[in-house]
Amino acid sequence: MSTGEHCWRSARTCSEQSATDPDSVPSVNIAVEAIGLTKSFGETRALRGVDLQVPRATVLGLLGPNGAGKTTTVRILTTLLRPDQGQAFIDGIDVVADPRSVRTRIGVTGQYAAVDERLTGSENLQHVGRLFRLGNDESKRRSVELLEQFDLTDAADRVVKGYSGGMRRRLDIAMSLISRPSVLFLDEPTTGLDPRSRLGMWDLIESLVREGTTTVLTTQYLDEAERLADQIMVIDHGGVIASGTAAELKSQLGGARLTVTGSGRRRTGRDRRGSSPVGHVCWGRAP
Ligand SMILES: Nc1ncnc2c1ncn2[C@@H]1O[C@H](COP(=O)(O)OP(=O)(O)O)[C@@H](O)[C@H]1O
Ligand SMILES: [Mg+2]
Repeated sequence: MSTGEHCWRSARTCSEQSATDPDSVPSVNIAVEAIGLTKSFGETRALRGVDLQVPRATVLGLLGPNGAGKTTTVRILTTLLRPDQGQAFIDGIDVVADPRSVRTRIGVTGQYAAVDERLTGSENLQHVGRLFRLGNDESKRRSVELLEQFDLTDAADRVVKGYSGGMRRRLDIAMSLISRPSVLFLDEPTTGLDPRSRLGMWDLIESLVREGTTTVLTTQYLDEAERLADQIMVIDHGGVIASGTAAELKSQLGGARLTVTGSGRRRTGRDRRGSSPVGHVCWGRAP
């Protein structure tokens, strides 16, 4: 049996479903939808036709190794980059046709913390609040609320330069939530964090999801996707190679073994954070 065949069959099923009616208005229950996204940078084909759907108040885990196309997908969905082909919608709004409306509905935390090191945690939050035109009072009120929620109250008046990596990442996510977005994009929220901060971040993401925030999360870690995501999409070389719940991916393929091999270079071992970054990922029969 070729596990690769099964992976590609799963990807085709996903394309076929959305290709049946490409002009359809996205369902009200679908918060994020992409149809046939492609993007090249010069000779590099970063995305080769990505389809996805994220039902409201659920988490999609985009799982893949470095260079797979995760950030490019997120940048297109968040209006930061135009696709070469394909369409994407947030709450039914076309990201290319109406980026302003899309931006009022989303929160984005990039792969690298976007906090201002010279400001305090509280100042960072209030600054973003004013950018979102919340006004001084509301920015202050929301800042206090988020500092509490993200366990940063004690550090509120310290400059961010002295924050740990985990604290910066928490502040960064808090900043992306200032305007109460209905859809949150988290690009590799735990990459580079120590094990304790990583577990804390998982708890935090779970609580956000419980509150009903639709979340698109990218990760290189299978355990993270399994723990946090309702649906997992495995992406590599700009294409979807498998999708479904962790259980579905296992049962579709009739086994419980995950084959993880390096992409380009061999990276099959566990890294120092205790998780396996993925290369090519296929579910296969246990031997
Ligand atoms: N601005 C860019 N210019 C040139 N190449 C890019 C750019 N952004 C991404 N790429 C390339 O596109 C591919 C996908 O990148 P990316 O979406 O960042 O992957 P991931 O987030 O999964 O690591 C990679 O080969 C990367 O080098
Ligand atoms: Mg990335």
